[in-house]
Order: sequence, then structure tokens, then C-alpha cells
Amino acid sequence: MLADLVIHNATVVTGDTTFAGSVAVKDGKILAVGAKDIMPEASETLDATGLHLLPGAIDVHVHFRDPGYPHKEDWASGTAAAAFGGVTTVFEMPNTIPPTANAKILAEKHAIASSKAYVDYGLYGLLGEDTIDKVDELIETGVIGFKLYMGNTFGAIPSPTTGAMLEAFEVVAPTGKRISLHAETNSIMERRQSALTKAGRIDPLAHLAARPAVVAIEAVSRAAVLAEWTGARIHILHISSAAELRPLAEAKARGVDITGETCPHYIFLSADDYARLGGIIRVNPPVRERENQLPIWNALTSGLIDMIATDHAPHAPEEKTRNDIWMVDCGFPGVETQRPIMLTEVAAGHASICDYVRWSAVNPAKAWGLWPRKGVIEPGADADISLIDLGHRWRIDDAKLQSRSKITPWHGREVCGLPIHTIVRGKFAMRDRELVAATQGWGRSVHSIQQMPPPQPKNLDQTTAFILKAPKDAALR
Ligand code: DOR
Ligand code: ZN
Repeated sequence: MLADLVIHNATVVTGDTTFAGSVAVKDGKILAVGAKDIMPEASETLDATGLHLLPGAIDVHVHFRDPGYPHKEDWASGTAAAAFGGVTTVFEMPNTIPPTANAKILAEKHAIASSKAYVDYGLYGLLGEDTIDKVDELIETGVIGFKLYMGNTFGAIPSPTTGAMLEAFEVVAPTGKRISLHAETNSIMERRQSALTKAGRIDPLAHLAARPAVVAIEAVSRAAVLAEWTGARIHILHISSAAELRPLAEAKARGVDITGETCPHYIFLSADDYARLGGIIRVNPPVRERENQLPIWNALTSGLIDMIATDHAPHAPEEKTRNDIWMVDCGFPGVETQRPIMLTEVAAGHASICDYVRWSAVNPAKAWGLWPRKGVIEPGADADISLIDLGHRWRIDDAKLQSRSKITPWHGREVCGLPIHTIVRGKFAMRDRELVAATQGWGRSVHSIQQMPPPQPKNLDQTTAFILKAPKDAALR
């Protein structure tokens, strides 16, 4: 059989092992993995001497702003950034304009994404106070999962009450879809921010003061209780504090289907960086005191935190550099720099490259039912491949990013590890550090290949829907 592409002389990395070998690709899939002399003939060969071959990263948390904010990002620039970062699948958030809250809006976003994307993607549907009745139509139209904002952030999507959250979990639990949570408690933050504003605080650290770690502890704990009661699957986005690790660990110990992610900025930045970076560092949840960094790192290496994501949140430079911190837009790009920043730790011996492949590809694929189609270098899997020069030292330069947002806290940081080629289902999206224009529009939604394990809803005779349908005495039995 003639393969489309054979990559020779790579160091292949999986979640468990590394070995020298070749990888053959045909019709978008991995055809063979192994020694050079057993590889099939191919239309094209690539010599990857000196490069590591990893499963492309799956970043389950990006904001591509399309439709709504073309000056910040769109599906072309966002997925180009992903390709340059060795990321082959992204899950995109619903805080666009209009928010991804019903089938019609979701269908429009699918049309935009499928025409522009260089990499594969999943779209989140919004789970809010007023969109609980849209769960079915959103699933039919194709979502990877749901996003629920327990706390306010960019886009000003109102946070549902705990009552609405419970009902939302009741409705989503039987579908098996995972609910990703912005776990910060809104009422605490609103009061804090208003008190700080009244006191005249407009400095960057006021942002951290408005969102103390207790907002995350409270939100993670509450979400875990509701998930335990309903059997809903949940995912804790952007873990920012040491203290929220305890409710996460306790929920896992109780058998709650809960996963967690952190982002490079919670591991490598701290309150000490606010003076240097000013508004650039403003992000929700905030970058916290230095004491949080090591426990978060340790939770990642121990497996308590399941994965690394980026919360890629592009904004224009003028939106990030205002004097009054409350006027600064929250977040910064990350999809393009995650691999180099994390691999620098691998180069320093702080983690193994297999650990890193689990955090960036294997575990996200498993949590959203994409395994073993994605996140793995094995025959039959999608040929989503990231070839990386692990020894390449370089400095991050915001001006050279593919993202339309040329402002990050990483500018000037020295990193070790550079993605050289990125292949999405067999096609080069980035080759020799050049974008492959012909691959634009090749990206596809992964909801169609998602296979979540059977749902395990609980307390079905206690749901709002059941109580309303059941005879009056049902609740008394
Ligand atoms: O800082 C943030 N920015 N946190 C979020 O949760 C949203 C994001 C954005 O969309 O800009
Ligand atoms: Zn986000």
C-alpha cells in the first residue's frame, strides 16, 4: 500500500514511552508506527532527524472571538496560532457575539469555523440561566460540551443562580456531555470589586484583591456537590489556587466525574509580576500569590490536575494597557506558547516528556471521548502530529505571534522547544515554521467523533422535570 507520507528518524513520544522510529500516514490517519525498514512506500517522506514527534496538543480552552470581535481574533488567526503552537484540536468558548446559546447561533459558528480553521475544533454551548431548554438543540447541532459561568468575566455573561445550575446539571447529566465551569463565585467578587472601586483602588493588584482564592474554593466545592447529586460530568477550568485543590481532590475521592485543568500563567507567574506587567497580567481567575505556584505544579505532576489548557484570550494592546485596572480587558493569548513554555520544564528535568504528552493530549482526549481517535500515535488514530525541536532555545516575541493580539505576559521569556511542523489529519497546517495556506478550512468539528461513556445520572426521581411530571405523592414515597 502506498502511504501519503512517511516521517523517518523521529523520536516518537506517547503518554507512556518514547522510541526512535517512523510514522506512516494515509488518508488522514496513522497507518503504521515502527522501524524504518518496515514502513510502506510513500508519495512523500520527511526526515525528522533531531525532532520529537508528539500527538498534537488538545487545548480545551480557547477564545477565538468569531463572530463578534474581529480586531481581537478570528477563526483563521486563532487556529493559525494553534498550528504554530503544535496544537491540533481546540475547544472554543461561547462568549462571542452573540453568545453560543442556541442552535441557530451555533450553526452559524460552525459555518464560520469550518470555512476558516486550520486545526480541528469543538464548540462549547452556553449553559446559562435562560438556556437550559436549549440543551437538546445545541447537542443536535454539535457541541463538544457546555460552558457555565459561575462568575462574571469578559463578555459579561450573567452567572446562573445555584437553582438554575442544579436544574442545568439535571438536564445535562443524562446526555453524558461534560460541563466546563468558570468556577469563581460571582456574588463575592461583585461585592469586593464594588468596595475596592469605592475606596478608589484602580491599581492592578486590586483585581487580585477582588477575586480572593475563596471564590474558587467556594465555587469548586458547590459545583462538585451539584455534580455528585445529579451525576453530571464536570470540568474545572483554569485552576488558579492551591486551596481549590482540596475540594477537587475530595470530589474525585467521592467518585464525582470531575476533571481539572490549569494554565501556564498560574504555574509561572505570580503576584510579584503585577508591578512589571500592569494590566497585561489581568486575567480571570487572577494570577495569585507565589505560594500557589508549586502546589499547582505538584497537582499536575501527581495527576490531581488532569491537563494543561491555555484560556487563550486575545485582546488588542490598547485594551490591555489602560491605567484603570477595571477598564482593562481580561486575559491574553496562550495557545501558541503553551508547548514551548511547558517543554522548557521538561528540558530542565522537572517533568518527563511522557507526563507532558498526557497533560496536553492524552487526558483531554479521554475526558471528552476523543480517545483513541486523538491524543495518540498509533495505527488507526487521526494523524494529528506535532514535530518539535526540543533543544531549540529562543525568546518569545509578541510581534511574531500568529494571534491578532500581539500582547502577552510572555514577551521576552526564554524557552526551550520549538514546534517545527504541525500536521492535522495528515495535512501540514504549519511546515518549517510557515503557515500552509491551502490547509485553511481543513479543520473539522470533533463532536461527530466524540464517544462519551454511558451517562450516569443520579437522583432522577428528584429532578425538577420529574417532580413536575410525577403524581403528587411521588415525592412522599
Ligand atoms: O481572563 C479571562 N478572559 N477569563 C475568562 O474567563 C474569559 C476570558 C476572555 O474571554 O477574555
Ligand atoms: Zn476562558
